[in-house]
Amino acid sequence: MPTSIVEVRNLTKRFGEFTAVDGVSFEIRQGEILGLLGPNGAGKTTTIQMLLGLITPTAGSIRMFGLDLATHRETILGQINFSSTYISMPYSLTVEENLWVVAKLYGLTNIPRHIDEVVKKLEMEEFRSKVTRKLSSGQMTRLTLAKAILTEPKVLFLDEPTASLDPDIAHKTRHLLKEVRRSAGLSMLYTSHNMREMEEMSDRIIFLQRGKIVTQGTAQEIMARFGQSDLEDVFLKIAREK
Ligand SMILES: Nc1ncnc2c1ncn2[C@@H]1O[C@H](COP(=O)(O)OP(=O)(O)OP(=O)(O)O)[C@@H](O)[C@H]1O
Ligand SMILES: [Mg+2]
Repeated sequence: MPTSIVEVRNLTKRFGEFTAVDGVSFEIRQGEILGLLGPNGAGKTTTIQMLLGLITPTAGSIRMFGLDLATHRETILGQINFSSTYISMPYSLTVEENLWVVAKLYGLTNIPRHIDEVVKKLEMEEFRSKVTRKLSSGQMTRLTLAKAILTEPKVLFLDEPTASLDPDIAHKTRHLLKEVRRSAGLSMLYTSHNMREMEEMSDRIIFLQRGKIVTQGTAQEIMARFGQSDLEDVFLKIAREK
């Protein structure tokens, strides 16, 4: 059994009276892509924000690489990265300048080589000198993904990474992520509202609803459990349950 890179125990986040994440426990193993699935407001982004140390859990623990996030923040954060369609960046910088900033922050050496590689991988040549403010949403998504893989993280947290991509670029992005996983043994946590994509990408899926895990397993196991041949039908069944 491969070792666990991420161990989440009883993770809970309350905003005032409202519980957004409610006693969630799971693991991500070395080289595994774990899909986090669930309706709008289920608690996926809140979970990811806690894993990134952006918000503090109300209760529970997060361990990565055997270390507690609460006490080994810097060591852990240097080895993880994230991408989301909904993050902002310094818009007056060019694409390349934005990548430089990230590379510097993470203390990378031989920055031009790293940037050239990532620009090539994500087919960003034609807009690498463009000002970030002028990017299309798909180009912006590729830039956020480039930022995420530039630092060669051991764990990647991807919150709807393909949400604004056209089908061609989305396909290439999935291929690229699987390739990065294969070559670097990277672990990933992945969210998407595209059920086919969840099925294709995830080794294992956790289904969250109202902050709680309602079911988990491989896509095949989950479909069998709910007597469906399609993950989308499982989603509808769970989401429409009262
Ligand atoms: N800062 C906050 N203050 C109060 N409530 C919040 C805050 N952040 C999130 N929530 C609430 O927590 C719940 C979970 O939100 P979250 O963004 O984690 O959902 P999600 O699963 O990512 O949904 P989506 O699929 O729409 O992205 C929602 O009801 C949301 O309104
Ligand atoms: Mg979200």
